[in-house]
Amino acid sequence: MSDPKISRGKEIELTIDDQIVTAHEGESVASIMMVEGKVAMRTTTDGDPRGVFCGMGVCFDCLVVVDDVPNIRACMTWAQAGMRVNTQRGLSK
Ligand code: FES
Repeated sequence: MSDPKISRGKEIELTIDDQIVTAHEGESVASIMMVEGKVAMRTTTDGDPRGVFCGMGVCFDCLVVVDDVPNIRACMTWAQAGMRVNTQRGLSK
């Protein structure tokens, strides 16, 4: 149950790993991915999974590919309608 005093941003759609998801303006890409069960947002060059660690833009463990641009911090990126987010493998896509 949500608090009626808290309002959410406008409902939007974006894709995460080619699947359409519904989110709200004002939410971070990281929070949306975690809601969708994608806690591993990237892999290292050795293939080890990484996800949100600091949640404030410092550790770079949450790097994703947004609209074909790699190395975007999911915790510092706000969702936008039509955004295409993909998990990142290694140093880039
Ligand atoms: S979780 Fe540390 S930079 Fe995003």
